[in-house]
Amino acid sequence: MTLLDTSKLPRHIAIIPDGNGRWAEVQGLPRNEGHRRGSDNVREIVSRCHELGIKMLTIYAFSQENWNRPRDEVDAIMELLAHYLQHETDELVEKGVRIDSIGRLDELSPAIQKDITELMRRTEGNDSMRVTFALSYSGRAELVDAVRAIVREAESGQLDPEAIDEKTLRLHLYRPDLPDPDLLIRTGDEHRISNFLLWQFAYTELYVTEALWPDFGPEQLDLAIAEYQRRERRFGLTSAQVRGSE
Ligand code: FPP
Repeated sequence: MTLLDTSKLPRHIAIIPDGNGRWAEVQGLPRNEGHRRGSDNVREIVSRCHELGIKMLTIYAFSQENWNRPRDEVDAIMELLAHYLQHETDELVEKGVRIDSIGRLDELSPAIQKDITELMRRTEGNDSMRVTFALSYSGRAELVDAVRAIVREAESGQLDPEAIDEKTLRLHLYRPDLPDPDLLIRTGDEHRISNFLLWQFAYTELYVTEALWPDFGPEQLDLAIAEYQRRERRFGLTSAQVRGSE
């Protein structure tokens, strides 16, 4: 059941699931317990998005900068990720969800690389929804990787430097076929993008909530989408132009 306007759902939602550590602190629990609850919540929110008919969801599960956290915290998050990939994805596969990832996968452990690669291969043809996990991801690194690829093509004569435009850059991003997110949800009340999809967020609507990620339930997701539905997306035009009165 939903009171949302199903004809105006965001096609692609991106999420920065922040606040696991603070959630644990408030409860008097170790930070890693916050991450465990956070990973349980990934399951809940993916499921609600599927139920609502959201076609694409991209989750910032682990940034390149996160490697600099204390070793035991990184290990705990990696264990949760491994557990999630092995035990929480069957239901998604059954529902026809395509599982994908962006980031420098080669920086992850061989076991996690194998699991995610295998899931991506198995679900490549699924089209009920596409869930993309950003793993060892950095928006700047993605742009650097794109520039390297473009320069290689230019040097080998496959590409005329004068012909390079925005489309060329897009075509060299990790997933050129993934449309820009319509809505970014950031939990934990920090008002920043934190090196997430820097190119893709050009016209994404931003929604920040005080709720810490483990507390961000399906009702809060619906509130975020309801807020999105009240926004006027102008893409640099005037309001009158957008409403078609000019
Ligand atoms: C942000 O909270 C969360 C992370 C850096 C890691 C996110 C990891 C998970 C949700 C679990 C593993 C992922 C999956 C897909 C199962 P924070 O630690 O920055 O919180 P704080 O700002 O309160 O310290």
